[in-house]
Amino acid sequence: MTNNTQLSLFDNSNNHQNDFIPTDAKVPILSATYQTIEQIEKHCNQCQRCSLAENRTHAVIGRGNLQAKIMIIGEAPGKNEDETGLPFVGRSGQLLDKILESVNLSTEKDTYIANICKCRPPENRVPTNEEITACKPYLLEQIRLIDPKIILLTGATSVKSITGDKRAITKIRGQWLEWQGRLCMPIFHPSYLLRNPSKEPGSPKWLMWQDIQEVRNKLDSLR
Ligand code: URA
Repeated sequence: MTNNTQLSLFDNSNNHQNDFIPTDAKVPILSATYQTIEQIEKHCNQCQRCSLAENRTHAVIGRGNLQAKIMIIGEAPGKNEDETGLPFVGRSGQLLDKILESVNLSTEKDTYIANICKCRPPENRVPTNEEITACKPYLLEQIRLIDPKIILLTGATSVKSITGDKRAITKIRGQWLEWQGRLCMPIFHPSYLLRNPSKEPGSPKWLMWQDIQEVRNKLDSLR
């Protein structure tokens, strides 16, 4: 690609490198493109790298503590998130808050939450590989800027998109994986727990309780 082609794929309205908006998934977004989460947020709200942009009310970037040691990565925004611009604010988010509270962690103080895809897929379908690939550089930049020690990957899409591990979530939940020098824990997606409310030993909710205690212990051991 020549420099000219590359430039024509950006909307360089005020000629400042950091304000170039990537308007095409062919334009790579390199590591260290962004200095702040606000810059990512601004670009994502104007991004056209995939067709999810068409129905976007708000791009959903993240919420929580920018200095958090724990980052939680979900799949993609739902209706409530698209409306508010904040991740995990619907029923799944309320359950996630409760799960964290059960080990004395606050979503806002102790974690930073983001998603693989920043825009809501129609009918809340699973994002396609193309959409994930187009959006992933934004997430990689978020991870670089937040610099978490622990990453919780909620559900199989999140695990596969970050680590490449395609195993079912029932097989890998609760196991620490190392990815780029960071400790990652695959956990059930809260929406799966909403569909499986039993708390019997061995049930998804019971397993989540084991996993979140393991996360709490690991965090304490790192301090
Ligand atoms: N599910 C997700 O994966 N992310 C959200 O932000 C909300 C629901």
